[in-house]
Amino acid sequence: MTMEDIKFVQNFKKTTNDAWLKGWHERNGGNISYRLTEDEVVAVKEFISEDSKYTPIGVTVKNLANEYFLVTGSGKFIRNMTVCLEENAGIIKIDEKGENYKIVWGLINGAKPTSEITSHLMSHSIKKEKTKGAYRVIMHSHTTNTIALTFVLPLDGKVFTRQLWEMATECPVVFPSGIGIVPWMVPGGAAIANETGKLMNKHDVVIWAHHGMFCAGESLDLTFGLMDTVEKSAEILVKVLAMGGKKQTISSQNFRDLGKAFNVHISEDYLD
Ligand code: 13P
Ligand code: ZN
Repeated sequence: MTMEDIKFVQNFKKTTNDAWLKGWHERNGGNISYRLTEDEVVAVKEFISEDSKYTPIGVTVKNLANEYFLVTGSGKFIRNMTVCLEENAGIIKIDEKGENYKIVWGLINGAKPTSEITSHLMSHSIKKEKTKGAYRVIMHSHTTNTIALTFVLPLDGKVFTRQLWEMATECPVVFPSGIGIVPWMVPGGAAIANETGKLMNKHDVVIWAHHGMFCAGESLDLTFGLMDTVEKSAEILVKVLAMGGKKQTISSQNFRDLGKAFNVHISEDYLD
């Protein structure tokens, strides 16, 4: 038995490879983090070492105290995660106060967790509380079409949500809580983490204008699927706009009917 045989490690590698194949992760663009279950922490115990020193997170995430996360490394290429995981990713542990982390596995040769670790942990903290521990994944990708739209649509979550819902019938079922938008900000660090966190209270999808997307979900599959759905919808919208714009579309009443049929609450905030 090696680290690579453990199921969540295999799932993580598959997700990173799928995301690379989608074209969302040029060079070192994007990063992914996964919060281990108690059983998974037990399973990795024989491979980890708790000797390293703690580093400040930059924000306090009290409800993540003593939690373990598998995270991609800063400056590391998502396309290389399947080549050698311990060079390109690692497991970190959060301290008792929720203020510091230490590397307990991987990130060898002096590598560090993603520069977006503060936004990841802030989002994990909020989602852990909101979903009573169900959500375990935060994924940040440089999704081409979604980024392109942030140069054209108003930077307003209501506009993005409604426009992207209209581009594929099942969108409101996949992201009923809509999309939040962070205007352009310097990436990495506490300021963008706090703005992202505020929006994560309400949404599973947060778009960073002119940069990329943050998605939150229960599992690697569901979070990847959410990212893929939003990005595909954005691709359709880019094509529709390039063809001269909508000539007909899904109406507010159509969305209400969809909500009833699929037993999903479609917020009136996004309908007229
Ligand atoms: P990292 O290489 O530090 O993960 O940064 C990539 C990125 O997308 C920053 O927003
Ligand atoms: Zn980025």
